[in-house]
Amino acid sequence: MNRMNLDQIIHEAVVKHMRRPLIVAGNWKMNMTVREGREFLEKLGSVEGSVLLFPPYTTLAALAPEMRRKGVLYGPQNFHYEDGGAYTGEISIPMIRELECSCLLAGHSERRTYYNETDEALSRKTARGVRSGFQVMLCIGESLEERKNGRWQKKLIEQMALDLKDLSFRELGSVLIAYEPVWAIGTGVSASLEEIGETHRLLKLAMRELFGRELPLLYGGSVNEKNAFDIGSCPYVDGFLIGGASLKPEKFREIIEISKRV
Ligand code: 13P
Repeated sequence: MNRMNLDQIIHEAVVKHMRRPLIVAGNWKMNMTVREGREFLEKLGSVEGSVLLFPPYTTLAALAPEMRRKGVLYGPQNFHYEDGGAYTGEISIPMIRELECSCLLAGHSERRTYYNETDEALSRKTARGVRSGFQVMLCIGESLEERKNGRWQKKLIEQMALDLKDLSFRELGSVLIAYEPVWAIGTGVSASLEEIGETHRLLKLAMRELFGRELPLLYGGSVNEKNAFDIGSCPYVDGFLIGGASLKPEKFREIIEISKRV
C-alpha cells in the first residue's frame, strides 16, 4: 500500500467518523393528496434528526403545521426567483416563507428535463433562496449516455459550478447537493456502491477546488430500506434523497431508523 492510499483511507475513516447523522429527505414529486399526506404523517409518527419532506404545493401548505408537530422539516420541490408577477403556475419565496419552510429543492432532473430548467435559471434560484434565509438542496446528475461515454465527471462539476456561481463562501454554507444519477431514478436499480463512492469522492474534491469548502452531499436514485445501510455507509455520503420509498410511511420510517445506525 503506498502512502497516497494510506492517506486516503485515513481521511475517509475520519470523514466517516466525524460526520453528522445522515440526512433523510423524501421527494414526493407529483404524488400525495392532502388526505394521503395526512394518513402518511399519522403512520410515520414523530421523528428526530434531519428528516425532510418535499411535498407538492397543496399538500405542503395544508400539512405544514402537522409536519412541524412531527419534527419533520419541509419545503417545496421548486420555486421562482422573482417575488411576484406574471408567472402563471409559479410559486414565490414570500409564499413559501409563510409556510415556515426550511429547505428548498432546486434543479431536480425531472424539472431540468421536462420543464427546461436551465443552469442560468438555477443560479438565480439558488442565490435567491439562500439570500432569503433558506437552505437550498441542489440536485445534480448525469444521463446514462454521459455515464457511458465518460463525460459524467465534467457534467456534474459543471452543474455545481454554474448553478452556484453567484454564491459567496459564506452563502455556500446554506447549500446541500443531492447527487442523483438520472439513470438510477425510479428504476429500482441504484448506482453501485463503487460508483457512488467514486462519484461522491470526486464531488467532494471538486467542491474544495471550486468553493474552498465541502458541502453536504446526499445520494438519490432508487434508495430503499434494503440498500440504505450500504449506501449510507459509503464515505462521503451524508444522506439520501428518496423518491418512491418516501411514499410509504413504513419504508420511510425504516430508512430513518437505518440512518441512525450507519
Ligand atoms: P427514486 O427514489 O424513486 O428513484 O427517486 C429518486 C428521486 O428522484 C428523488 O428526488
